[in-house]
Amino acid sequence: MKGSKFLLPALFKTLILPPSLFTLLLLLLPPSTPWKIIGYILSFPIVYIVRSNLSVYLSTRRAKALGARDIPRVKGRWPLNLDILVDWAKSGSEEEVGRMMVLLKRRWGGSYNTRVLGEDQIISSDPLVLKHVLLDDFDNFVKGEKFKDRAVDFLGDGIFNSDGERWKFHRSLMRPFFHPIHISPQLFAPSIQRFLSSLPTEGEAFDIQKDLGQLALEMAILWMTGEHLSDSTSSDHTRGETGYTFKDDVSIEWEEAKRHLGDAMTTAQRVVGKRVKIGTVWPLFELTHDPLIEPMKTIRTFFKPIIERAFKRKGLTRETDEREEIHFIDRLVDATDGMKLIEDQLINTLLASRDTLASCLTFCVYVLCLHPEVGSKLREEIRSVAGDENREVTKDVIRELRYCRAYINEVLRLYPPVPLNIRRTVRPSLLPTSQGGPPMYMPGNTSIILAFILMQRDPAVWGEDVDEFNPERWMNDGLGKREREGYMSWNYGPRMCMGQPFALTVTHTFLILLSRHLDKLQSEHKDMRFAFDVQPQGTAIPSAWTTKEGCDGRARGGKDRMWVVADVVLAIKGGLWVRFDHDHERTK
Ligand code: HEM
Repeated sequence: MKGSKFLLPALFKTLILPPSLFTLLLLLLPPSTPWKIIGYILSFPIVYIVRSNLSVYLSTRRAKALGARDIPRVKGRWPLNLDILVDWAKSGSEEEVGRMMVLLKRRWGGSYNTRVLGEDQIISSDPLVLKHVLLDDFDNFVKGEKFKDRAVDFLGDGIFNSDGERWKFHRSLMRPFFHPIHISPQLFAPSIQRFLSSLPTEGEAFDIQKDLGQLALEMAILWMTGEHLSDSTSSDHTRGETGYTFKDDVSIEWEEAKRHLGDAMTTAQRVVGKRVKIGTVWPLFELTHDPLIEPMKTIRTFFKPIIERAFKRKGLTRETDEREEIHFIDRLVDATDGMKLIEDQLINTLLASRDTLASCLTFCVYVLCLHPEVGSKLREEIRSVAGDENREVTKDVIRELRYCRAYINEVLRLYPPVPLNIRRTVRPSLLPTSQGGPPMYMPGNTSIILAFILMQRDPAVWGEDVDEFNPERWMNDGLGKREREGYMSWNYGPRMCMGQPFALTVTHTFLILLSRHLDKLQSEHKDMRFAFDVQPQGTAIPSAWTTKEGCDGRARGGKDRMWVVADVVLAIKGGLWVRFDHDHERTK
């Protein structure tokens, strides 16, 4: 039982250890009952405070001995920095993503230690520190056992959930499958085209963020397995090539699982996210039920027959291994016989791909509506390079779209799908600082939050025009070393995103086809615009944030028109509601 595994050590540490220590001290006090009760109650804060101060003292001493200094410790208004914990919880629903970190950064600098409840918690947006964590001292900064403990029921022993030798094994097993040679725009174009054709064009408002979530799921499943989620028939069935005829085992149960796959992934991600937020005591919140049982049943029911079919066709003659119709799953079964390993890799890859891709596509559309002048330039390039619908979208076409690539880079700079990342030290580490001076001492077994989004919106890294959406900065070798090292939307170092070629191929293909779709609608005098009038209640961006004077640094210096939050990934609160409309007044 998860609960009992956790409960025994936790009970000992929190309920038994402090009073036991204090009982020893009580031997020195009068033996009356009131004293014993007072002693019992006081034992908790006293042991806590002594432990906390001792660890600060030891850490400072260690830092000095190494010629380093402490990472600035935030001094809150309430004991044990409880006010920070409260502000943090409130900011989740009342503020934009990263706001608390922005405020703390103004006072404490690029790296600081919030030390809530006596526990070190480092936060940094200093490019040198992030590079140190993700590259220079890579082996020492791991995801760690704590993350694994929260995520193992979902991610099993997959790449996302492993460190050290196990992670190296996963990475080298999977890396070849992510090579651009295996990723073709022709695979995705028909589904994207179908998606665009299904969007309402008679002025009805729709939440394109939600729709793009489904599209991203479909793209990921299509590339991984060859299954078409939106079709009743799968590519395995229709292709009719050698070995692709094992579809008669499709059951109602499987059809159900297919329908609910997206929701099941979202639920599982939220459960893990909640466990991470609650921290060590998470099993206490799941004593009576396991919220992962249902979603995992759906996910496994979906993948099981797909894996079995892949095993059946394993070894059947293929023309060449370079063929793009051979899916990720076929390469996996060629490389290993482990059914569970394959299932874990599929779940991990789906987790890595679906929401990040959805977030990237959503913000590409958002910026098109927000900055029509940039959108015009993008569409002009697409028109001149990719031509009209008669021209196939190929890798060569995509390669030529330089402004389009810069556009995507700039979207990902300002709206990174993974706005924050987290690592934990195995041993102490000395962090460099961009301000110069001695390094900062970071103890072992301590977490650090890597605030990508703050770094990528920092004028000290990107210059005074940091809040401008300016794709040109990416063109003609426009980026200096500082900017290049200050861009980590794809992560950095050995654990950099493997799905980059996939995500970029889908996003380029999507933008080309969307641009053609918009050109067609333009000939009917229609354009895509925000549908502010249907934005769900309580999710519209506060009006003060949309002015330079009132925003106090939020909303890209007052430029955003939607409220940007971190859900599972970066997202727009309440959805991105748009319509194809020629009625300017309604959408103003
Ligand atoms: C715009 C879209 C994407 C962005 C911004 C993005 C970003 C990232 C980031 C920040 C990480 C590091 C996560 C961590 O350390 O915990 C990561 C890892 C990873 N990504 Fe992506 N990703 C995207 C799309 C994809 C797609 C489409 C796939 C798969 C098809 C994918 C596959 C992976 C894998 C397998 C890893 C794990 C790498 C490792 O731990 O060695 N990503 N990605």
